[in-house]
Amino acid sequence: MHRRELLRLLGVSPLAALAGSAGLIESAHAQETPDVELELTAAPAEVPILAGPPTKLWRYSARVVRGPASTVQPLEGSYLGPALRFTRGQRVRVRFRNQLPEPSIVHWHGLDVPEKADGHPRLAVQSGAEYVYDFQVVNRAGMSWYHPHPHMRTAWQAYHGMAGPIFITDPEEAALGLPSGDGELIFALQDRRFDAANQFVYARSGQGGMGRGGMGGGMMGRMDVMNGWLGDRMLVSGRIQPTVDVDRRTYRVRFLNGSNARIYKLAWSHQAPFTIIGNDGGLFGAPRTQRFLTLAPGQRADVLLDLSDVAAGTDVQLQSAAYPADAVGHAGMMEQAVPVPYGAPLALATLRVSSRRGPRFTPPATLSADTFRPATSAPVRRVPLTFRQMNWFIDGRTFEMDAVAPEETVVAGSTHIWEFANQPGGMGMAMAHPMHLHGRHFRVLSRTGAEGNPLREGIHDQGWTDTVLVLPGETVRVQVTFSEYPGLFLYHCHNLEHEDMGMMRNFRIANR
Ligand code: C2O
Ligand code: CU
Ligand code: CU
Repeated sequence: MHRRELLRLLGVSPLAALAGSAGLIESAHAQETPDVELELTAAPAEVPILAGPPTKLWRYSARVVRGPASTVQPLEGSYLGPALRFTRGQRVRVRFRNQLPEPSIVHWHGLDVPEKADGHPRLAVQSGAEYVYDFQVVNRAGMSWYHPHPHMRTAWQAYHGMAGPIFITDPEEAALGLPSGDGELIFALQDRRFDAANQFVYARSGQGGMGRGGMGGGMMGRMDVMNGWLGDRMLVSGRIQPTVDVDRRTYRVRFLNGSNARIYKLAWSHQAPFTIIGNDGGLFGAPRTQRFLTLAPGQRADVLLDLSDVAAGTDVQLQSAAYPADAVGHAGMMEQAVPVPYGAPLALATLRVSSRRGPRFTPPATLSADTFRPATSAPVRRVPLTFRQMNWFIDGRTFEMDAVAPEETVVAGSTHIWEFANQPGGMGMAMAHPMHLHGRHFRVLSRTGAEGNPLREGIHDQGWTDTVLVLPGETVRVQVTFSEYPGLFLYHCHNLEHEDMGMMRNFRIANR
């Protein structure tokens, strides 16, 4: 009997049973009519970003074939893919059409989906081909995102425009009545370099990722990718340092660091602290306030910004505060010859406060039920992050398409502690690595070894996350309960240049 039918007979709503039984439900749902059916196309486009000629880029567009029209929300004036809005429990089918001139595949960063729907690079489809995703939205409310994941081309494709946000809602979140509609701002942070003709400039542009074209870019090209590619123009949701007209009210700001490599230490110019209500894995148990918010590539933050008491006419700037570049570390003996290095102070966006008033929202003391329990007897795996011979390694290994080591094999639904140990290599070379696990969100148990790092004061280890920043010299312990979906999944550094260089590995979830 199908799990779904069984649950119906028992009078259990499939949604209520999701947390523990996602894998069983999935096997039954593929044949059923999806609640939402989308067509997602990746294709070249030209979008005006700077004054003058438009920028040639690659982008996602989407169309609702079945289900609520509100599932697809284009971001106005942005090259980013549309926001996709799902409700927990929905069965989703996405027909991905690759109209790019090279292979690609879509990954739903943050979503707990079956192996076939996860966008592993070995599933990449050729130019002109299609790929159909079937999955159920088992995640709780929160912000995720989608981006390409083809072998050694993720960084290039993402840099050239391929990314979009995903928002999931559920009854727990809806009951809070958080600011929505005009009260919700989507801030996807990216940096880019442009040439004189307004076209994107990327490391060894057009030659493919590291390894494909060898050392074609010469020593400096290699240095650029080892450090991660940094732009000198800051974009928020596809617009260069935008000015946004806002009212005197509370906003919910949904942050995504969609940059290839840059790490932001966010601050508001009017000195107000961030009221953080959630991150990668959804709402916190309780709100948290802090002056700075460190956001590494791949990470999201859910923030309340109350402008009710800010005088009309004020400009509130979203900034990245200055920090010394060696807080991120470096991979080379040479100073990084980039126009805007790590840690440079940045102006990202300006919120221009009008005289209009809108609703003030004060978050309740309890935002969500926190289900986290520290495991007492989970196996501990030490995962060294190292540098040697001009490359980055995870536990001494580099990416191999199908390979999995014994310590990278786990049983469905089992709980493990992984300890990412960022170990300085020869001549103290180490860099901050945002380590990401596909599928389930995890909890940070501890971090040691980088107490004085200036990025630390913007880091919080509250809530569920899928991407954790591991600073140079730091050891970060996380507790993860792996998905119920069996198969081959990825974990990697979300500095996309590091990922494409091979700082990525498979893990395999075996059936119970
Ligand atoms: Cu954004 Cu493999 O991830
Ligand atoms: Cu991911
Ligand atoms: Cu890295």
